[in-house]
Amino acid sequence: MTFPSVRISELGRHAGAVVTVRGWVTHLRSSGKVAFVVLRDGSGTLQGVVVKNAVPAEAWEAFGRLTLESSLAVTGEVRADARAPGGYELGIQALEIVGLAPLDYPIQPKEHGVDFLLDHRHFWLRSPRQAAILRIRHEVEQSVHDFFYERGFVRCDTPILTGAQGESGGLFETEYFEEGKAYLAQTGQLYGEALAAALGRIYTFGPTFRAEKSKTRRHLTEFWMIEPEMAWYDQDDNMNLQEEFVRFLVERVRERRAAELQVLERDVSKLDCVREPFVRLDYSDAIALLQSKGSDIKWGEDLGAPDEAVVVGEYERPVFVVNYPKEAKAFYMKENPADPRTVRCADLLAPEGRGEIIGGSQREDDYDKLLGRIRHEGLPEETYSWYLDLRKYGTFVHSGFGLGLERTVAWIAGVEHIREVIPFPRMMGRLRP
Ligand code: 4AD
Ligand code: MG
Repeated sequence: MTFPSVRISELGRHAGAVVTVRGWVTHLRSSGKVAFVVLRDGSGTLQGVVVKNAVPAEAWEAFGRLTLESSLAVTGEVRADARAPGGYELGIQALEIVGLAPLDYPIQPKEHGVDFLLDHRHFWLRSPRQAAILRIRHEVEQSVHDFFYERGFVRCDTPILTGAQGESGGLFETEYFEEGKAYLAQTGQLYGEALAAALGRIYTFGPTFRAEKSKTRRHLTEFWMIEPEMAWYDQDDNMNLQEEFVRFLVERVRERRAAELQVLERDVSKLDCVREPFVRLDYSDAIALLQSKGSDIKWGEDLGAPDEAVVVGEYERPVFVVNYPKEAKAFYMKENPADPRTVRCADLLAPEGRGEIIGGSQREDDYDKLLGRIRHEGLPEETYSWYLDLRKYGTFVHSGFGLGLERTVAWIAGVEHIREVIPFPRMMGRLRP
């Protein structure tokens, strides 16, 4: 006889009925006459109870052979039980082992070093903490799509194999037939600008690559970026949108992923600060602030992670640092008419010492100025000819930004290192699993 197969999260609709649940063993306990098996199926956890005298001998014998992380199917009656996790318990009548795991499952209930855990990432993902993080990541991803869909933005996918550099910083390259070198995209932005002239308001959401030799808690070599690009937005419109966007993401996670935030023991009151207006601090004032605190940073230099932590620590809420010096930023940023040594840009720094989660700017829309910057940076002019064309055929005021998904998720979830917020992190020294 077969019974309906039910996911643990749906057991509530089957109280009193006999069903089959399939999953993996997370805990085992037996008193000799009564045995308990806790299983996980991805939708929740369920405690099953086996009473020796009430089940066929094979079922009792099968229980005795069970090991942690074995996969199994249990069939029994769904019973409401306020003490059980999830509120239901299964009175097991039949138990089938699907895949018996050897006793040496690498991840044991004890402290493991992070390198060991990363080497066993394919198993580490099964832990409640990792599952909570990935659900929060998913919530952020879905919120991104909802936010832009509701506002009439078109999602556009841009190429990963590209012929030109998009940002300064390391490039991954590969041979590309007769065309020579191809690079893994560092950004989709330049294509986003072409698409904004076609569709008005667009966003990209894809993997981006940086061959950065930085071993820090906020650098990956492969990370996901959301890059909106808006025709007729100046830099103020751009920052207003970013503020609304970040607030939306935080509130959505708090609203819909409260249970997961609790698994992570996240102090969510720290996120209340996004409800206040974000600070807008001029780069020159940020430098003055840093110098007053003893830093030897000079005007003209980009802010490093420790500098960002100091700046954002002054306010304990998100801070836009605006109008950086030209030399510290990418070639495509619009010259600031009020101070041509600087560009109309902003980095958004997240609180709790997190630092930059967004880089954005108004784009240079003047053909000659852009060409000048490309030459000044020594970039190959021919590869950017199509990009320059956008300034020749109907140039337009436009702006955009890039939000780093992993940095944002790590901040919201309160996870220290971004390697934990992507299923299989790629960073210097790590390509497996
Ligand atoms: O500041 P970035 O380099 O800006 C751009 O790529 C622009 N093209 C964006 C645009 O205007 N369309 O990167 C944007 C964001 C950073 O603020 C950071 O959150 C994230 O991408 N990021 C990284 N995240 C993880 N690992 C890395 N190595 C990262 N590099 C950048
Ligand atoms: Mg940046």
